Amino acid sequence: MKKDLKYITEKKLADFPITMITAYDFPSGQAMDEAGIDCVLVGDSVGTNYLGLSNEREVTIADMLHHTSAVRRGVRNAFLIADLPFGCADTVESALANSRFLIEKGADCVKIEGWSEKAEIVNNLVNNGCVVCAHIGYNPQIHNKPAVFGKDKDQAEDLLNSASVLAEAGASLIVLEKVPAELAEKISNNLKIPTIGIGSGNGCDGQVLVINDLLGLSPKLFKHVRRFANLRQTMLEAFKEYKRAVENREFPA
Ligand code: KIV
Repeated sequence: MKKDLKYITEKKLADFPITMITAYDFPSGQAMDEAGIDCVLVGDSVGTNYLGLSNEREVTIADMLHHTSAVRRGVRNAFLIADLPFGCADTVESALANSRFLIEKGADCVKIEGWSEKAEIVNNLVNNGCVVCAHIGYNPQIHNKPAVFGKDKDQAEDLLNSASVLAEAGASLIVLEKVPAELAEKISNNLKIPTIGIGSGNGCDGQVLVINDLLGLSPKLFKHVRRFANLRQTMLEAFKEYKRAVENREFPA
């Protein structure tokens, strides 16, 4: 069954957690779909996790289009979200043009980083038929260093206000990254649209993890991550075993 926005929003109403994982290629998108994951996100985290770049800001719209097409070929049922990369959503015009490119490649929804200052851009996207996921809290495209946002009263109010303003502007989902758990829960309870948390506790309507972190492909273990596998180790052992078998003329038989 194709999971649309209605399906995702009804999960919030039913208080049943929404699942989201990032994907950057065909086979992982296909496996997530088969596992019944609700939403697949082609994040700009493709840069640091898949392309070996040092920063999300180096990711281009060409990178995002390439990876969105690949993931789309694998994903039939999940709701597919693609990131508007750094510098591609600074004006209403560029955000709309770049969103249309991502939608042409198969995205069901575009994700945009930024707090209330992005409301006008979100509103213009929605008025032009795009489905939009907002992203507040820590924004890798904007903030220089990962940090928790919303610990002090002013910033907490700013986040609460930004979430409402972006929802009023027409956002259909909102990612809360590195927001204190209590505040993330309060934001989630205040909104009709679903919140998806990362490093923001258990009170959000859903959770997202970066595929490399979830599978144990990245050497770093972030505080908010649980490794559900250790594929780096599995991969390493397979490569070593292949090398050994070829060098000993055991393979091919
Ligand atoms: O690009 C990404 O992977 C993201 C998630 C961390 C939400 O934006």
